[in-house]
This record gives sequence, C-alpha cells and structure tokens, in this order.
Amino acid sequence: AQTLRALAQRAGIRIGTAVNADALANEPQYADLVGAQFNSVTPENAMKWDAVEPTRGTYDYTQADQLVAYARAHGQLVRGHTLVWHNQLPSWLTSGDFTADQLRDILHQHITAEVPHFKGKIWQWDVVNEAFNEDGTLRDSLWLRKLGPGYIADAFRWAHQADPKAVLFYNDYNIDGVNAKSTAVYNLVASLRKQGVPIQGVGDQGHLDVQYPAPHDIADNLGRFDKLGVQTAITEADVRIPLPADNTEVEAQNEAYQTLLEGCLLTAHCTDFTVWGFTDKYSWVPGTFTGEGQANIYDENYQAKTAYTAISQDL
Ligand code: XIL
Repeated sequence: AQTLRALAQRAGIRIGTAVNADALANEPQYADLVGAQFNSVTPENAMKWDAVEPTRGTYDYTQADQLVAYARAHGQLVRGHTLVWHNQLPSWLTSGDFTADQLRDILHQHITAEVPHFKGKIWQWDVVNEAFNEDGTLRDSLWLRKLGPGYIADAFRWAHQADPKAVLFYNDYNIDGVNAKSTAVYNLVASLRKQGVPIQGVGDQGHLDVQYPAPHDIADNLGRFDKLGVQTAITEADVRIPLPADNTEVEAQNEAYQTLLEGCLLTAHCTDFTVWGFTDKYSWVPGTFTGEGQANIYDENYQAKTAYTAISQDL
C-alpha cells in the first residue's frame, strides 16, 4: 500500500501531522511513522511562547530545532505554530503587570526573536491563533484587552518583516463550515488584505466530535477565501469519540475525516491537510475532553485504523 505522503503528493497537497517532541526523540517507531507517512509537520507545543521563552529573555529552541532538522532530513515542510495566542503563555508574561506600551513591545520582541530564529525554514506560520469567539466577536484575551484589535495587524506586519517568504496564516477552530465565526474570520481577512496587511492564509483547525454532525459546507466556506486570494489548510484535524466507541461512531469518525479532507481537496488553494497527532497514544483529547478519545488515525500500538484507510481512499 502507498504511504499517505505518496498519495498526497499525487493529489497535489501536503499531508501533515502535529509532532510530540518527546516521542520524536525517544520512540523510533513514532519517529519512523512521522517520516514515512507525512510530508509536512507542525510542532504540537515546541514553538509556543511558554516553550521558547520560559524565562523572560531566555530562549530555548532545542526541541523546535530538533523537529526542523528532522523535517529537513525527511523532505518535509514545517508549519510554525503559533506566535500570538491566549494559551500556553509563560507565567512571567501572564502574571506581570505590564502597561499597554510595554506589552506591545513584548509582543514585538517575541515575534522579532522567534521568527528570525527559524527564518527560511518555516513554510507557513500560524501568526495569530484563536482570536474569535463563536459569535464572531473578538475573544477577550490579554492582547485584545490591553492592545485593542490592532494587535492582529501588527503581528502580521512584524512577522512578515522578520521572514518575508513565510506564508502567514490566521488559524482557528469551529470555522469549518459557513457560520458566524468563519464569517468573522472572512471579514477580518478581507479587511486586512484591503489595508495591505501581509496575511496569506487561513487555517481551519478541524477538531471534530462524532457527537455533532460534521459540517458539509467546508468547500463553500474555504472557497470564499480562495476569492480573497489567500491559501487555506486543514491544520489540526482529529475526530473525538465518547468512550467506549461503538462501530457506528467509528464509521462516523471515518466519514468526518473524509469530509474535512474532501473540503480541502475541493478547494483550489487549500494546500495541506494536517492531523493533530497521528496516534491515539499521544492525543491531547483525553486530557481536554472528559470521557472522549480515540480521535486519531493510528491506535495506541501504532496500528493504522479505519480512519487511515478512509483518508488514503480519498487522496
Ligand atoms: C494542544 C496540544 O495538543 C496539547 O499538547 C497542549 O497541552 C495544549 O495545546 N488548538 C491549537 C493547538 O491551536 O495548539 C492545541 O494543542 C489544540 C487546540
């Protein structure tokens, strides 16, 4: 059977996975599958702010550099994830009492340190992650509260200055289909593009749950972004199941993966389909969604599941 990366190459897209840095370093079976099956990778945590600057002014890119080197050795592109987010911020930042001017400088400094470190090695950067609420209003984060909505345009401008060739993405969840949140993202991108702000992509995370119907208008939604002249990608696909899983739920999971992938394949400028970890062994789902799991395409023993087959059949 052909690997996912061979099939994806033929289909004209990249297939990626989020990578757990510890597993990559310590488990040969894990590392071998990353290399064999995928042609793009995203660090699951290693490029987040708390990982790269745990103490103010002290940077640690060890794990991220290891992944970038691994990717290079295996002919893979790297999605940088993520520069501006409300989660996984270092405590010196969240507990510090900074003025707006100070915070703006801190954000500028963060982007101006991290992006150049990886200059020329990142294909797509998730510059801003999860800035919207479900109703399409901007999320009440540290950034919005202190800096106002302009922090988004600033972040893209600073990132572009630091690495002009990286493709800069806005990334969010529950924006698969056409809804209030995806429309807010659409309006944001339209307005930024009109102002000449360097934003070139929109990432649809694609975290689904078999308890809810999979959105069937993904191509309609992503097609809107084609018209704005930006790329799109499914950046964090997984489909969680309330445990224990029955056959109907596994079937629904296979179909949900196909729905996400088909949405991308039907969209002219959808460039990649990334799963948020490939094995249930290291999934973030059980730790975040009580009673749910089995969300990935390989089981805990590195056996390909039917979701893997469903994806390969679609490619
Ligand atoms: C998750 C990681 O998978 C976990 O290991 C970590 O503890 C929390 O973050 N949206 C995102 C990702 O953009 O960065 C998140 O990753 C999952 C939700």
